[in-house]
Amino acid sequence: MRVLITGGAGFIGANLTRDLLDHGHAVSILDDLSTGFRSNLDGLDADLILGSILDQDLLTELVEDADSVMHLAARSSVPRSLDDPMATHTVNATGTLNVLEAARRVGGRYVAMSSSSSVYGANPELPKRESATTRPMSPYAASKLAAESYAISYGTSFDMPTLAFRFFNVFGPLQAAGHVYAAVIPAFVDAALRGTPITVHGDGTQSRDFTNVRTVCTTLRQALEQQVTSADPVNLAFGSRISLNEVLEMIGNHIEAPLVVEHTESRVGDVKHSQADGSLLASLIPSINPVDFEEGLVETIEWMRSTITSDTDIDLSDLAAHVVSE
Ligand SMILES: NC(=O)c1ccc[n+]([C@@H]2O[C@H](COP(=O)([O-])OP(=O)(O)OC[C@H]3O[C@@H](n4cnc5c(N)ncnc54)[C@H](O)[C@@H]3O)[C@@H](O)[C@H]2O)c1
Repeated sequence: MRVLITGGAGFIGANLTRDLLDHGHAVSILDDLSTGFRSNLDGLDADLILGSILDQDLLTELVEDADSVMHLAARSSVPRSLDDPMATHTVNATGTLNVLEAARRVGGRYVAMSSSSSVYGANPELPKRESATTRPMSPYAASKLAAESYAISYGTSFDMPTLAFRFFNVFGPLQAAGHVYAAVIPAFVDAALRGTPITVHGDGTQSRDFTNVRTVCTTLRQALEQQVTSADPVNLAFGSRISLNEVLEMIGNHIEAPLVVEHTESRVGDVKHSQADGSLLASLIPSINPVDFEEGLVETIEWMRSTITSDTDIDLSDLAAHVVSE
């Protein structure tokens, strides 16, 4: 099948592009390269169209040529959403509406999209079931809630095949550490490999349901191939719960060097624990066998090691670990 991936030059999108190509599918990508990289697609036989999901005519043209759409494009950062809520809303909520409208205009296409565990926000209930009350704590989370609601409403209102996944903390190769919004695993690994201090907000006992990007890609591919739909959003995670201290220990064991860890105050608004209930996902796509966390961590460390060169010029003060629930 031909899949249009919005945001396909980003971390998850580029991994998915490779996975789909490896499984015999054709891929077109719409990306404005605002946070993605052309180099993520090096060596991949996919069409990259430079443009925005805010361009309705371009979207319609591209959706018409595709059998299915995997909508990943987003302004993904919580801090950026606090700086400019309207920009986040425009890309994440209005942009998703544009994708759905394009699919409707061309007579209906399967659309799967990426929402986020951040929609659960201040609700402390664990594990997070899809039926739990959503309590977004940032404009980013609110925009994702709006986006997934649009996807689900297009299923109901227009009988269109749609699926909204709530991603948890995804990690793996191609997730860059070198900017201020770096997620926690690449930030830790980068600092560990450079021998620079690792900043941990709080005592490190906070935990996340980390999901390997290979597992995410397998799940998305199977959803696309089977055109899986759901009237409810679906957690894309498997109920694991790993603390930051455990992550640090595994990194230290693998690189066989002492880590310099500096603890700072917990950040206001950080969620202490995040863990998915994966039973809805298991009922929809039963065959997924998630990649073991430590195996994925080692793969990520080796990928980061291969990208770090002596002349890399990164401002290390930016590498404080962000452990947002994404
Ligand atoms: N990485 C995670 O842990 C995580 C967790 C929850 C949800 N998500 C969601 O998964 C999706 C992919 O995330 P990612 O980690 O790969 O982020 P990413 O920033 O690497 O990828 C997003 C891609 O979208 C592109 N993009 C942004 N605005 C665009 C626009 N207007 N038009 C076209 N392209 C645009 C960017 O250039 C980038 O390539 C996002 O929707 C994100 O919100 C990710």
